[in-house]
Amino acid sequence: MASNGVPETRGFATKAIHAGQNPLQWNHGSLVTPLVMSTTFQQDGPGQHRGYDYGRSGNPTRNVLETCLAALEEGKHGITYSSGLGAVTGITSLLQKGDHLVAGDNLYHGTSNYIEKCLSNHGITYSLVDVTKVENVISAIQPNTKKPLELGADISMHSLTKYMNGHSDIVMGAAITRRDDLAEKLRFFQNAVGIVPSPFDCSMVIRSLKTLELRMQQHMKNALAIAKFLESHPCVERVFHPYLPSHPQHELALKQTTGHSGMISFYLKGDTEKFLKALKVFTLADSLGGYESVIKLPYSMPPASLPEDVLIALGITDKLIRLSVGIETEQDVVDDIKQALAACE
Ligand SMILES: Cc1ncc(COP(=O)(O)O)c(C=O)c1O
Repeated sequence: MASNGVPETRGFATKAIHAGQNPLQWNHGSLVTPLVMSTTFQQDGPGQHRGYDYGRSGNPTRNVLETCLAALEEGKHGITYSSGLGAVTGITSLLQKGDHLVAGDNLYHGTSNYIEKCLSNHGITYSLVDVTKVENVISAIQPNTKKPLELGADISMHSLTKYMNGHSDIVMGAAITRRDDLAEKLRFFQNAVGIVPSPFDCSMVIRSLKTLELRMQQHMKNALAIAKFLESHPCVERVFHPYLPSHPQHELALKQTTGHSGMISFYLKGDTEKFLKALKVFTLADSLGGYESVIKLPYSMPPASLPEDVLIALGITDKLIRLSVGIETEQDVVDDIKQALAACE
């Protein structure tokens, strides 16, 4: 057993369950990470604390989550934030006058996919499920690896709100890096600006990570089944799913990733309103990555109000439908889409 509680293995699920969670670090040996709510910690003398002095600067529960996230990304330091956009705020604080920011054209709030200097993107955008070639934007390339830090990125950024928490009940973000210098700056900014998550939310995400691999397996299975079904349906114009051979970046997705998410988008030929009204398992809602299946119309529910001509230029029309396929029974989610398509013809 390694000192941080990770058995000597490289398995993703093992790390998600054990990294940073050695029960012996607590004097009672608790297997479940304790939820430490205290905002302040007793000092042995002025300025002499035992690793924690004030809740914004550090918290034992948050520390476990940050250690676990670093292990999952093959990183060294994890820094968590009160939202994914908080992580963006922290990372952009590293930029200095004269630096260049390279951005994708299909951004969440105009922020989440920029890449330059020390930044990476999550590799897939979620209106048209585009796959970004991480190798094109990061110079150091190591083939046959799938994680951003192994592809040469300095920082991997997450909205933990999505799949990592996966239960649609927490908003949180994270930055993970191997670089001590970047971690020090990020940690300073996290504390100075105060964009920290609550200990309760951290304990919820620690719990959720334990089932991340299992959940992703079902997300993938359900989403691919729906994507294949949609592609064969006469009421569907075009389907975007990176593991369909018809996807423009299918080969890249196979090379760069070890799997995919539950995200699909498609252009509907039929009546959008009738289609939405007929759905029984899918719920019309924003966000993605939760255990429940949700559907969204990016054209009418954009994250920020973009002018119509920009939306159309991006391919975001009133016929574009985005699905975040959940982990319900496969046949039920496929049948739901099937009957809703029949209702909109
Ligand atoms: C694709 C995408 N990126 C980023 C975010 C922002 O994440 P957070 O709400 O954790 O700040 C969202 C939120 O819905 C999103 O859909």
